[in-house]
Amino acid sequence: MQRVAIVDPTESTRESLRTLLLGVDFVWLEAECARYEYFYDVIQTSLPDLAIVALDADKTKALNMIGQISAENSKLPILTISHDHQALLMSLQKGAKYFLTHPVTLEDMLAALRRALGEAGGTGEQSLGSNTRQTGASSVIAVLGSRGGVGTTTLSVNLAATLAADPNHAAALIDLDLALGDADIALEVNGFENISIADLARNIERLDMNFLRRAMARHEPSGLSILRHPLEIAEVGGIHEGHVERILNLLKISYTHLVLDLSKSLLPTDLMALRMADLILLTAQLELSSLRNVVRLIHCLGGEENLADKVRVVINRQGADAVEEGISLKKAEEVIGKPIFWQIPNDPKAVIGARVAGHPLVKHAPKSRVQQSIQGLAQALYGKPVTTPSDARGSKGGWGIFGKR
Ligand SMILES: Nc1ncnc2c1ncn2[C@@H]1O[C@H](COP(=O)(O)OP(=O)(O)OP(=O)(O)O)[C@@H](O)[C@H]1O
Ligand SMILES: [Mg+2]
Repeated sequence: MQRVAIVDPTESTRESLRTLLLGVDFVWLEAECARYEYFYDVIQTSLPDLAIVALDADKTKALNMIGQISAENSKLPILTISHDHQALLMSLQKGAKYFLTHPVTLEDMLAALRRALGEAGGTGEQSLGSNTRQTGASSVIAVLGSRGGVGTTTLSVNLAATLAADPNHAAALIDLDLALGDADIALEVNGFENISIADLARNIERLDMNFLRRAMARHEPSGLSILRHPLEIAEVGGIHEGHVERILNLLKISYTHLVLDLSKSLLPTDLMALRMADLILLTAQLELSSLRNVVRLIHCLGGEENLADKVRVVINRQGADAVEEGISLKKAEEVIGKPIFWQIPNDPKAVIGARVAGHPLVKHAPKSRVQQSIQGLAQALYGKPVTTPSDARGSKGGWGIFGKR
């Protein structure tokens, strides 16, 4: 934990700064000062690892004080905040090392803190859950359906829960099927506040880590966290692609794996998620309308650089006579023009049982064929040796497409 001291004579901005800092796990707000004249003494007594100075209440006083502090405490990193670029430049001349321009977002603050404290020897780690991690290595998987009911949510929930089962991971599922999503049915979480992605979007300018943490409901048995779809369908209109971008960027700081359950409408929010994903799992079944949509979707995503390259086709409910229309895997691959990356067997007993219980397969039916296959998929993606079940075909073992993590 790194200790921080702040000075800002303006009460309202000091409060926002305090709120931002209070949510950051790796810093401790050691001292808070409302007068530039007193800050020198505050530093001498509290000996913080970082001083944050808001300049705008009185730039001359603030800059003189920075000169004095940096002369006497040459090792103490000073971070300045202002609306005024000129004042920020002058603060650097006086001895400040980092600056932020108003208005300060949580991402800006986290990046500055990590830089300042990292260079000063701190760890700069941040977490929402019990796992802490170095930032930047997060992996984002978007799961897109080729039509309704092909198993997009089943795959999202159970892949995310399988990833969460590894004690080295912190995994989260984001329900971006904003209007009609139902990931929270398959993953029943109790005792959490009803904060959804709509509340985060509404408060996007004031978003801090505490609020974000409260929005992530945790399914304790599996360790998977979930960000739920809006409670009211009418709230969907208030969620824009920019919100999704910021929320995902913040979650990437705290989780090793993000799994995104997308809608089938290719809304701007879905497209943003697809752009931000490292990989897109396109769920399909061996039947005509689904396969035709796979072709159409790959063609559509090919219109945007890189998107089609990230697509991996996953056939769900393999072996279900009622679903499949006598289309062979080989024929499907010919039509799609791309290999099928993975197949998940039809296993209604396990899938429906888990859904009704509100627990993911990894908890409800860990030995089921369908869970074994999803486990194999996770291993194929993340590079541990794959123990492919006889009924699931995928990458041939060895190291997965994300490489060794
Ligand atoms: N591998 C499977 N074996 C058997 N049943 C399955 C399998 N995968 C999904 N199902 C069943 O298919 C139905 C639809 O699954 P799911 O809700 O995951 O699909 P979806 O693509 O997310 O649907 P929506 O279009 O409503 O978002 C559910 O009843 C689920 O139990
Ligand atoms: Mg769904």
